[in-house]
Amino acid sequence: MTNKEIKISYQEYDSPYELEKEFQSLVQAAIEATEQSYAPYSKFNVGAAVLLEDGTVIKGSNQENAAFPSGLCAERTALFYAGASYPAKAVIAIAIAGAQNGILCKSPVTPCGACRQVMAQYQTRGGKPMTTILIGSDKILKFKQVEDLLPFIFDSI
Ligand code: THU
Repeated sequence: MTNKEIKISYQEYDSPYELEKEFQSLVQAAIEATEQSYAPYSKFNVGAAVLLEDGTVIKGSNQENAAFPSGLCAERTALFYAGASYPAKAVIAIAIAGAQNGILCKSPVTPCGACRQVMAQYQTRGGKPMTTILIGSDKILKFKQVEDLLPFIFDSI
């Protein structure tokens, strides 16, 4: 038997202005996207902004439904739109924000497991590392690749 360890590294920022310029506007887009969320049930408004390799920014937000499983998270709304509309363009970054009653969440919003799996596959599909930026009003976290959010990614089929 051998003990193994996985090291996960990420960066923590006190303000979006400490981020690279292209990521500052992505953060802004994710925050704006929270306003387009349709979340009458949870009242938790999530916004995601996806950056493609050519600089295109796509916004997505959570879209809920009375038949609960039919709704979709902000991250997958944005990524599936990117995949459907720009299939040849790699997704190089995604920023995620959450708000309640119009106020940005203090702690960074972390993507659910299903969204992480989808992010992982879009990273593989694009062939470029996907930076993930998790936004909170108190701090911002940045992960340079999806493996840092989802070790042992399922990719067997
Ligand atoms: N949600 C997202 O859109 N993204 C996440 O990363 C976590 C959760 C949505 C799903 C649901 O509409 C609401 O937030 C509450 O779970």
